[in-house]
Amino acid sequence: MSRPLPSVFDQALASAVRAPSPHNTQPWRFVVEHEVIEVWLDRERVLAVADPHGREARLACGAAAFNLQICLRANGLAAVVRLLPDPDEPDLVAVIRLDGNEKASAAERKLADAVFRRHTNRRPLLDKEVPVVARTALKSAALREGGQVEYLDASGRYTPVASLVRQAEALQADDHAFKAEAAFWTHRDSDSPDGVPKIASGPPPHSPGIVSLRGSHENRELPEREYEREPLLGAVLTRDRGPHAEVRAGMAMQRVLLTATAEGLATSFLSQPFETPRTRESLDRLFAGLGQPHTLLRIGYGYPTRLTARRPVKDVLTHRTARDVPAS
Ligand SMILES: Cc1cc2nc3c(=O)[nH]c(=O)nc-3n(C[C@H](O)[C@H](O)[C@H](O)COP(=O)(O)O)c2cc1C
Repeated sequence: MSRPLPSVFDQALASAVRAPSPHNTQPWRFVVEHEVIEVWLDRERVLAVADPHGREARLACGAAAFNLQICLRANGLAAVVRLLPDPDEPDLVAVIRLDGNEKASAAERKLADAVFRRHTNRRPLLDKEVPVVARTALKSAALREGGQVEYLDASGRYTPVASLVRQAEALQADDHAFKAEAAFWTHRDSDSPDGVPKIASGPPPHSPGIVSLRGSHENRELPEREYEREPLLGAVLTRDRGPHAEVRAGMAMQRVLLTATAEGLATSFLSQPFETPRTRESLDRLFAGLGQPHTLLRIGYGYPTRLTARRPVKDVLTHRTARDVPAS
């Protein structure tokens, strides 16, 4: 096998850091050793209030691992991904090992391109239906990574889930610790290397909608706007639960998001009900029999918004020459 050029690894790492993460915390570190890239969870960047068990952070790390893999694939390199490979190192989330050369397909190149266009769109979407062909493409994307997408409109879960989103949003709006954490990470200047900048926030809704986006992501300097009436909601599930399933779900989520981007769809997240114990239990019950829900996506057509910044790769990368763990 021909050795990968250093620039391919540079590109792959630049793709990895474009992954989404809760409040753009970027809870990852990467270690490169010969032909291996490791993805580590950075505990310092796990949200202590919203995500005390690091569940959302593992989804983000899974998404970063997917970006690494798809970028290597687009460059004609096969890459084997092992998730949580070492029981003694629970923060070693994924190991990506090169495994020969293999011509990239057009679909893989399309997904790799979408990495640099995908973004969270918190603005109103158009009241335009997502066609069956696009819905099917997102479902297949999740299945390819060992996950599932369940559309709520098809299942009668729409109303109860939308109500849990509103309930959790109300609980969080009354929780000082939650509000302080959200305030720390949001309304940043646009050149902030992490956190959510004001330019990525949406306008306040003119009237309360069937689902509520996060109040902490609202830009109250913008005039009120009417949001779409009933956005398409898709839950990302896996059969299993636990840390391994969370990383797997992160990879599935990212393939879904990139497929959506490639299909011209806008996406955003509704994570509130996963972050308060009571609503989370209710969510688990609603999906009992289908799988473990990990995240909830709002999907539709909208106008692209600006990309948010990331910390430079050099700040999250260690080159290992001897066996050691990354410095935090
Ligand atoms: C697990 C997870 C949960 C998220 N939850 C929310 C959410 O509830 N509301 C929201 O507006 N964005 C949410 N996001 C999106 C992040 O805020 C976003 O990925 C980050 O700010 C980087 O911006 P980008 O996605 O535009 O690149 C979530 C992202 C991840 C990975």
